[in-house]
Amino acid sequence: MEHEFWKQAWEDGRTGFHRSEYHPELIKYFPLFEAKSEESILVPLCGKTLDMIWLSHQNLYVHGVELSEKAVREYFLENNLDDYKVEENCYTHQNTTLEVGDFFKHNNVNGHDYIYDRAAIVALPKATRKEYAHHCLKLLKPGGRILLITFEYDQTKLSGPPFSVTEAEVNELYGKEASIELLEKKSDKPKNPKFKDAGVEFFTQKVYMIEKN
Ligand SMILES: C[S@@+](CC[C@H](N)C(=O)[O-])C[C@H]1O[C@@H](n2cnc3c(N)ncnc32)[C@H](O)[C@@H]1O
Repeated sequence: MEHEFWKQAWEDGRTGFHRSEYHPELIKYFPLFEAKSEESILVPLCGKTLDMIWLSHQNLYVHGVELSEKAVREYFLENNLDDYKVEENCYTHQNTTLEVGDFFKHNNVNGHDYIYDRAAIVALPKATRKEYAHHCLKLLKPGGRILLITFEYDQTKLSGPPFSVTEAEVNELYGKEASIELLEKKSDKPKNPKFKDAGVEFFTQKVYMIEKN
């Protein structure tokens, strides 16, 4: 999607993807990372997700990347982390840094240990997802892991975002350079009226653990 689309969505408050609770699958599957204190986790296309609060309590360095500066400011203000520091395009509070900018320009010479992808790859159109997966793998250390949460639904009924990202596509995008384990699959009737009204009958959430070779 165009950058302006997302920036405008934040300006207009069209942020139905934002959750007011920690994601249950993050809490459930985080232990599989076997993370050690002071390792680093990257949260691409992070919005102002509260999951970064939860991750920051696990003694990790949390690095989010988000296009919208409004989202980044709201993250710190709404969570009473108002003594943050701003340097260039990075907002930092203790072990959390949120970088305002395009994820595809994010670089880290040391590499990250983990990536948490919830509503990130599914926010991108198909044409961009190959570059996104390639960039994620490039940013991970060897042996680094991705906890990935996707949605699948009948894309002919509705155009995204969120886009349907199938298991076959996940295998195609990550399978050459990583091992992929499907941890969970949950199908339900869609709760969101946007999907119901479009005639989407099933909405499937899948959770994967991906480990870079
Ligand atoms: C569907 S939202 C999900 C946000 C967050 N992951 C969550 O779970 O609440 C996608 C986010 O990606 C951001 N975004 C889209 N394209 C981006 C890009 N190229 N670089 C950085 N952020 C981007 C949008 O501004 C939006 O906040």
